[in-house]
Amino acid sequence: MARGSGFWNVLAKRYARQKIADPAAYERKLECTRRYLSAQAEVLEFGCGTGSTALLHAPHVRSIRAIDYSDRMIAIARAKAADQGIGNVTFEVGELGGPSEPENSYDAVLGLNILHLLPDWDAAIAEVFGLLRPGGVFVSSTACLEGTMRAARPLFQVAGALGLLPRVMFLSEDRLIGAITGAGFEIVEHWSHAKGRAVFVVARKPG
Ligand SMILES: C[S@@+](CC[C@H](N)C(=O)[O-])C[C@H]1O[C@@H](n2cnc3c(N)ncnc32)[C@H](O)[C@@H]1O
Repeated sequence: MARGSGFWNVLAKRYARQKIADPAAYERKLECTRRYLSAQAEVLEFGCGTGSTALLHAPHVRSIRAIDYSDRMIAIARAKAADQGIGNVTFEVGELGGPSEPENSYDAVLGLNILHLLPDWDAAIAEVFGLLRPGGVFVSSTACLEGTMRAARPLFQVAGALGLLPRVMFLSEDRLIGAITGAGFEIVEHWSHAKGRAVFVVARKPG
């Protein structure tokens, strides 16, 4: 079992039942993402959770490879794909940077509500850059929590180290955007649906 996945395994069933916290923001992100997809697009989603977003995008693309290190999240995602009769999404247990990741092979990579959970989040952005074809897009939505929860942060760190909570990176929006552009991307879209909400970014690998 991958380190850190235990928390998400325990949460998986509850996560699958959870209602979308902000449906308007979610719809806006889906619609915005879709503008950068095409019927021929080959897509990777990492940290896909129970697969809801991948399954919604599936009819608009050629294929989606969706990975998550929690095998229970992936089991639920596979069951949903089977229930919905969706055959162009492959759900796999895995992490970004696995040994079989081919360079220059995706038209779009989605990383939704995941970068702030990766201790090596900036390395992940560089990895995504390598995986995309020239002209391909990286679509991300990231909690930028720097400056928030100062008093509770040590508690988060201890709980994270013990595996009771996920380890959270307290990123700033500036550092996030800096890392994306620093990896070689051009920012195409960059917004938050409301103040303090996740930062949504569409970034293109120059063609
Ligand atoms: C907050 S959930 C987001 C799920 C989905 N992207 C969404 O927006 O609903 C984070 C997901 O990332 C997965 N995850 C966290 N760290 C990971 C890592 N290093 N590699 C792969 N998956 C990871 C967790 O198992 C969980 O399913």
